[in-house]
Amino acid sequence: MNATTTGTGTGTQIEIRGLHKAFGDLEVLRGIDITVARGEVVCVIGPSGSGKSTLLRCVNLLEEPTSGTVSVAGTEVTDPDVDIDRVRRRIGMVFQSFNLFPHLTVLENLTLAQRRVLRRGKAEAGRVARANLERVGLADKASAYPAQLSGGQQQRVAIARALSMDPELMLFDEPTSALDPELVGDVLAVMRSLAQEGMTMLVVTHEMSFAREVADRVVFMDGGVIVEEGPAARVVGDPQHERTRTFLARVLDPAAAPAPAPGDVAAAPAPAPGDVGKDG
Ligand SMILES: Nc1ncnc2c1ncn2[C@@H]1O[C@H](COP(=O)(O)OP(=O)(O)OP(=O)(O)O)[C@@H](O)[C@H]1O
Ligand SMILES: [Mg+2]
Repeated sequence: MNATTTGTGTGTQIEIRGLHKAFGDLEVLRGIDITVARGEVVCVIGPSGSGKSTLLRCVNLLEEPTSGTVSVAGTEVTDPDVDIDRVRRRIGMVFQSFNLFPHLTVLENLTLAQRRVLRRGKAEAGRVARANLERVGLADKASAYPAQLSGGQQQRVAIARALSMDPELMLFDEPTSALDPELVGDVLAVMRSLAQEGMTMLVVTHEMSFAREVADRVVFMDGGVIVEEGPAARVVGDPQHERTRTFLARVLDPAAAPAPAPGDVAAAPAPAPGDVGKDG
């Protein structure tokens, strides 16, 4: 296929080095380093405003980094001369909101970009679309309109749409957080099977059981920096930093933990590890 491994190592799908992103005076990412190997599933967790979405959006240049480098499958996307459309074609992205076209059927939603961007013919695009609907358990919904589907079904359509572009890696930004609790499981099951098929995935999620079961690594972000990262069992099961423990306590049992303080936002300076002695 392609042998472009510009010093990133053959197995590396995403390499983020020294990534900074500011919106005006607001420094949202303050030096992020992440490497995701081919076939690896990395979950990013952290409080609201910590920069998780911004991080994902920097990977396919929906946001332009202020400094640092991002490489995807050996292509540096932060290189000013990069053909970003070409890189984006290799990256599937699934957001919290499904962004399906309401006036198109499920099948048409899945074939549109295939035909326009990949220049596939109608028959081939339809075949790929149906195969991916099957993959997410919605083979019978090809002719339905988005409004006729549940939120969980719509999100699975959005995943099938991304898969129909044959991505080499997938970015997920809280794909289940807009769903009613009883619809979350079906979406996570699809993501779990993708992971088992060897898809490279960078997933922002609050689903700790998913992170624990599926992720090879978990990255905990707070205030625009990575506070802690490692195997899921360690970061979620036995966190080393007080900030990670406080966050997990809040996520795993919201009723038992204190609410975030008003100053607990991305703009707040990140204390050094070990700097946070008090709980609450
Ligand atoms: N386009 C933008 N312009 C200005 N500020 C922005 C922009 N996008 C994000 N921000 C700010 O950057 C910070 C980080 O936002 P981001 O969406 O990355 O956080 P997050 O970790 O994904 O939070 P959440 O868990 O709530 O989704 C926030 O303070 C947000 O207000
Ligand atoms: Mg977000």
